[in-house]
Amino acid sequence: MKTQIADQKLNGTSHEEIYNRAVKVLTGGVSRNTIYRKPHPYYVASANGSFITDISGIERIDFANNMASLIHGHSHPAIVEAVTEQLKKGTAFTMGTEAEVSFAELLTSRSSGFEKIRFMNSGTEAVMTMIKASRAYTGKPKIAKAEGAYHGTYDYAEVSQTANPGNWGDIDHPNAVPLVQGTPQGVMDDVVIFPYNDVERTLALLDQNADQIACVLIDLVPHRIGMFRASSEFVEAIYNWTRKNNALMVFDEVITYRVNYAGAQDSYSVKPDLTALGKIIGGGFPVGAVAGKDEIMKVLDPTEKILRHPHSGTFSANPVTMTAGRIAMELFDEQAVLDLNALAMTARNQIEESIKISDVPLSITGAGSMFRIHLQENAPTSYREINQTKAAKTIINELLDYLFFEENIIMINTLACMFATTLTQNNVDQLSEALLRGFKKVKPMIEQLS
Ligand SMILES: Cc1ncc(COP(=O)(O)O)c(C=O)c1O
Repeated sequence: MKTQIADQKLNGTSHEEIYNRAVKVLTGGVSRNTIYRKPHPYYVASANGSFITDISGIERIDFANNMASLIHGHSHPAIVEAVTEQLKKGTAFTMGTEAEVSFAELLTSRSSGFEKIRFMNSGTEAVMTMIKASRAYTGKPKIAKAEGAYHGTYDYAEVSQTANPGNWGDIDHPNAVPLVQGTPQGVMDDVVIFPYNDVERTLALLDQNADQIACVLIDLVPHRIGMFRASSEFVEAIYNWTRKNNALMVFDEVITYRVNYAGAQDSYSVKPDLTALGKIIGGGFPVGAVAGKDEIMKVLDPTEKILRHPHSGTFSANPVTMTAGRIAMELFDEQAVLDLNALAMTARNQIEESIKISDVPLSITGAGSMFRIHLQENAPTSYREINQTKAAKTIINELLDYLFFEENIIMINTLACMFATTLTQNNVDQLSEALLRGFKKVKPMIEQLS
């Protein structure tokens, strides 16, 4: 089946042929490991709304939306029109643009804690700038982050991202585990790792480093930890701890900003000092931003007597991204957020039904317009619970391949979906029915796991 599809050609070129060229010039044949799949990546011809057509002419429903970054699917007409206008006027200048100011006005009016904002080019940069700003503001070197949490690729933010039973250590004192070989020991020494949603252990670990922690970094619905929500008790405990210990509470809302109109943070009584943003606020273009308290954001302010954190970036706040982002976020208004969350909830309920009918030990977690399916009967509550064996990863890949090749459905490689406003109830029905067939197919493999 797979080879047959791979060999099909549109305009005379096959996926395999492009990949054979790719491996000669791109290391591993890709620029982002996420798009690699065996035996090779598949190449896009065009996309519109919630559909992507590949170069073989096969159309698939897209539930991944470029890793949660396209809140209105592909090529939204209003975004295309506004960006086309901007392209004709120029794409990047060593001068300011009104596009940047208008977008900043929109985002600061959207979330109450966003007194000031700065734009950059990726979520990674946003998290990095937020961490460096925290150090500059507090004068302290360390950060605290959750075991298993993904926050992009800044050295400090990626510590313990893929900690495993062989290296994660005692839960009372989780090891700071390097992700990339060659990460300096000094980086690990400056990162305190805590178990997510575990109030008692986290506070004890923070206390042990109290005079050195600049910020506690939290994703309110951490995808890689299991995509369940932070408990209010956990967030409030961290907030109170940071107030007492001259530290900042900072949120990574690069993915979760979609959860409510004002971000996932709107569900909590306490607000962060700084928030990192990315993905959907770029309207389909590369973006990052840090927003938060004016007094703290001042570390970036070039008009201050002492500039504590010089910050720039050749393409930061480029007018193409600013224009696309503003249109996307204007369209993602309060009603659009509610409607999208309702559609995702319907999908979750239908998938629960598919799980029941197929009688497989699976569970589903999520928030707002995103959810993730797990190969375990009870919904996970901690990172250590979802650590997957090789056999489990094989089953997930089998299911993803089945969906991709036989059902023409694209999901994120953790078995997650990130909805876009272009999806319909009909698409949701197709998803839950395809999953039902997929679950039945991998059922014998899942049963062998236990
Ligand atoms: C929670 C979170 N933080 C940060 C990032 C990094 O964003 P980017 O890929 O734009 O650098 C991601 C990307 O997936 C993310 O999911």
